[in-house]
Order: sequence, then structure tokens, then C-alpha cells
Amino acid sequence: MPQTARITKAVIPAAGLGTRFLPATKAMPKEMLPVVDEPAIQYVVAEAAKAGLDNVLMITGRSKRALEDHFDRVPHLEAVLEAKGDERRLAAVQESNNLGDIHYVRQSDPQGLGHAVLCAKRHVGNEPFAVLLGDDLIDARDELLSEMIRVQQAVGGSVIALMEVDPAQVSAYGCADVEAVEGEDFVRVRGLVEKPAPEDAPSNLAVIGRYVLHPAVFDVLERTAPGRGGEIQLTDALETLAGAEGEGSGVHAVVFRGRRYDTGDKVSYLKAVVSLAVEREDLGDELRPWLKEFAAGL
Ligand code: G1P
Repeated sequence: MPQTARITKAVIPAAGLGTRFLPATKAMPKEMLPVVDEPAIQYVVAEAAKAGLDNVLMITGRSKRALEDHFDRVPHLEAVLEAKGDERRLAAVQESNNLGDIHYVRQSDPQGLGHAVLCAKRHVGNEPFAVLLGDDLIDARDELLSEMIRVQQAVGGSVIALMEVDPAQVSAYGCADVEAVEGEDFVRVRGLVEKPAPEDAPSNLAVIGRYVLHPAVFDVLERTAPGRGGEIQLTDALETLAGAEGEGSGVHAVVFRGRRYDTGDKVSYLKAVVSLAVEREDLGDELRPWLKEFAAGL
């Protein structure tokens, strides 16, 4: 039975320690690392808001206070900018606190992505909801989340996002076994496996960090044993739902062909910063010729 309740809630797991970016993340959450001039997390919250999800729950942990501060007002800074007549910076400062209604819950004992999503159970209640992972940035010009919401509203169950990757890279992702759905531009997920060895991968379709989930996922997560890396994996819960029948079961996928940037490790983070900076109206014209010259000298 398709689930038709309107989707308004987004869950953003942000409890990770960010060890890959030490020492930058010793005293600062990795979600606050700037991508050009906005913290990575702001792109994700803005993406949720654009898809109509203005009720955001962040799953945080110790040393994540900067996240709450960033999405809050800073009256004295606003007053200084206002007195100077600096409208542009004032708007930039205010933007992050106008993106929606942001709530926080702490995951005090992080046990993996599935466990982080389970921390959202009380806040979400019995409605379908989205999950956005902060390491994946989706270009604001390319639609993904709204398309996934449309599919969830049409077919019910849960919807994931997949992207074709080089088969050698599949072991860094969840990987899906899918079949076509006649006459539709989405696919049905037959099975999922978290970070398989390339020779065991069912395809080269990698799970990327956007999910629209049926609340049935919570009961499944509660029963899901630790999997890869000893962590409770969202992929494993979705594998269960893909093979189940009845209310809330079934998993479909949208295959994304747009622009995705990864801020999860140093090299891909640097690529994301450069790619987004050259696209910017205020920076691109100056940066592009310099980059060409720089690259020619390598
Ligand atoms: C998580 C998921 C994985 C997914 C990936 C997308 O892994 O467990 O299935 O492919 O996000 O970015 P992580 O990158 O957190 O290890």
C-alpha cells in the first residue's frame, strides 16, 4: 500500500569523529569544514529545505556544539553588519538560521549509521522521512531528493539513491542488486550488501547518501545485528526490507546521474572545493585561468 503521508522531516547523522581530517577536526566538527565559504553541513540542510523538508533532526554527539551555534542567530554580529550597512554579509550570516526548524539529539554511544538513524525514532514517529549523509553533496542544480520523495509517495516503502561507479570502487559503498520496473524511471531493489569485495558485488550501483525511508525501518533496525565493521548498518536493515512483504516493506531506487561531490576524505574534499569554486559566479572567472596554468605546470 503506498504511504501517502506528506514528508516533512529530514534526519542528518553528524556524530562521526572526523578522524580522517585530524588535526583540523580535533576541536571542530568535520561537518563545519568549509566547502568554499559555507560549512559542508549547510549545503545538506539547504538541500533538505529545497525539497520541502523544513523539520531537520541532527544526530550529534560530544564536541558538536559548533553545529548548533551555526544554525542559531548571532545578534551581536548581525548588529555590527547592520550598522555597517553590509547587507551581503548580513544575509550570509542569517541564511543558516532561516533554513528550517532544526532539532538535535545526541547519539551518546555511536554504533554505526543504522544506530544513528534509530536515534531519530521518537522524533520521526510513524511517518516516512529522509536521511541525508553529510559527506555527500548533491549539486543544487540537479534534482535528487524531490524525485526520491515523489517515488516514495507513489510506491510506498523506502527509496534509496544509487550511482554507477567504477567496479573497483564499489567496496567503499553499499551496493545494490536491482531490476527494472516496467514503464518507470526508477528500479526495484532486490538486495543490498554493505561494502562488498569487488568480486562479490552484485553490480556497480553504489548507494549514495540520500534515503527516503518508511518508518518500518525502525523496528527492523532494532532487530539488526552489527554487520560490517561491527556496526549496525542501515544497508542491512534495507536489505531486510527489500526482501520482506507487508506494510512498509519494499525498496526502490532512483539512479542519480547528476553531480555529486564527496567531502568524506581529503582528496575528494579538495576536488569538491575546487569543483564548486570554479562554478561560482564570484570566484570562477579568476580561478579558472589560474587552475589551467597551475595544472599545465604540473
Ligand atoms: C555509508 C553507507 C554506505 C553508503 C555511503 C554513501 O557509508 O553505509 O552504504 O554507500 O555511506 O556515502 P560510509 O561512507 O559512512 O562508510
